[in-house]
Amino acid sequence: MKTGITLAALLLTATIASAQAAAPSPSPAAQTSAPAGNADAGKKLYSSFGCYQCHGYEAQGSSATGPRLGPKPIAWAAFSRYVRRPTNQMPPYTEKVVSDADLANIYAFLQARTAPAPVANIPLLK
Ligand code: HEC
Repeated sequence: MKTGITLAALLLTATIASAQAAAPSPSPAAQTSAPAGNADAGKKLYSSFGCYQCHGYEAQGSSATGPRLGPKPIAWAAFSRYVRRPTNQMPPYTEKVVSDADLANIYAFLQARTAPAPVANIPLLK
């Protein structure tokens, strides 16, 4: 009987702890619109943090290693959330590793990529 109560208390504590862990942090990453970033600085960071290894130097992506990220990355809020807490194969980059300012620069670099030519304009694909 006593064990049952102790177990219930433990479960309750664990539930509260996980609910607190899931609470949103009041960081700039929670903003909906992207903070102003510098694309040139972002280019260097995109390279030094190794994003290019999976997403390609031009953020063009690859079906084998990581999706296309530019020139239209997903909305800033979802972008920063995913980079901090990816849910699949991508490794996480916490605020300690990539600051919000660095991430904003990377985001600006991604937005500055040129869009691929429409398929209709590529003779080989006609
Ligand atoms: C080891 C490979 C790898 C590295 C390094 C990597 N990514 Fe990814 N990324 C992935 C993969 C694979 C996905 C697809 C979802 C998944 O499996 O997590 C992804 C998904 C994403 C997404 C979500 C895209 C979408 O449309 O939902 C974003 C944003 C992203 N990566 C940004 C970055 C940034 C920025 C960096 C560098 C700081 C980076 N990634 C480094 C492999 C990587």
